[in-house]
Amino acid sequence: MAYPLPQSTSMGLQVRRLAHGLGAEVRGVDLLRLDAAAWEAIHAAWMEHLVLVFPQQRLTGLEFAAFSARFGALEVLGSYQGLDEYTDPACKGLMTVTNRRIRDEPSRTRAVGRSWHADRSFVPQAPIGTFLYCRELPDVGGDTMFSNQYMAYDSLSDGLKRVLTGLWAVHDVLGRQDSLVKALTPQELARKRAMDPPTAQPVVRIHEVTGKPALYVSEAVTTRFVDMSAEESQPLLKYLFRHSVDPTFTYRHAWHVDDVVMWDNRCAMHLALADFDPVQFRTMLRTSVVGAVTGRVVPSMPAGPEGLSSPAAT
Ligand code: SIN
Repeated sequence: MAYPLPQSTSMGLQVRRLAHGLGAEVRGVDLLRLDAAAWEAIHAAWMEHLVLVFPQQRLTGLEFAAFSARFGALEVLGSYQGLDEYTDPACKGLMTVTNRRIRDEPSRTRAVGRSWHADRSFVPQAPIGTFLYCRELPDVGGDTMFSNQYMAYDSLSDGLKRVLTGLWAVHDVLGRQDSLVKALTPQELARKRAMDPPTAQPVVRIHEVTGKPALYVSEAVTTRFVDMSAEESQPLLKYLFRHSVDPTFTYRHAWHVDDVVMWDNRCAMHLALADFDPVQFRTMLRTSVVGAVTGRVVPSMPAGPEGLSSPAAT
């Protein structure tokens, strides 16, 4: 599906850094009327700063989706994830992340992203970019943190870089999320396992545009290194989880309603902080865009989470 945008000229774009680690604010651009030069300028800023914030945007959901789709094909998660009620009927790639009750049920997207991760690294073709458009916020809090994974890699010793280069790790949506596993019935667990089997991804990911290496493991889903047991993998993984979110590499975004934020999952991780009163509402529109296939499904996994003490299965 195409999401055409009106054409016009636009320059005068201003980019202001927000943190040492990553993140920049972009002003002076109309996201609805991006000509080629403006798109190039935004893309270049995105490659340099990894996270871009566009304050005070006045967009409909479909316009927001149209802007996102300038960066790649929109990922469709609705039916696949049982999230139909959270997707826009006019654009299946447009989702709502909210803690508002839906059809009198607790929202299934209310706790999205509560540990450090790069979006959906547990599938072979993970989204390269994700976009959020803030629609409502609690009085205080509801912040999102980001961490620069180029910096995380660059700051390792040469010896550890050599160890990690060429290694692959298993990313399993069920592997480290005990609360998710406990909340699912055996049938749901089997369905989720069938939909999202564990996937191996390179531990050091080379960004296909910048050519730079970035660390690509996360505490949310990375369970072990390929060809090693989970037990053997834990000490080094634990070190990498801690190192990858060292405060030096991070930016904490305190949202305003009407902010659009986009980030690059190839070289940045993020964390949705639960730092707000859950009786107040936080609602974001969300899109993501797919890129190259970087992972491969790990064969012969049992139905259920890949046990952290199980032997290597590849
Ligand atoms: C996400 O992890 O995709 C959502 C982040 C957020 O809601 O801040």
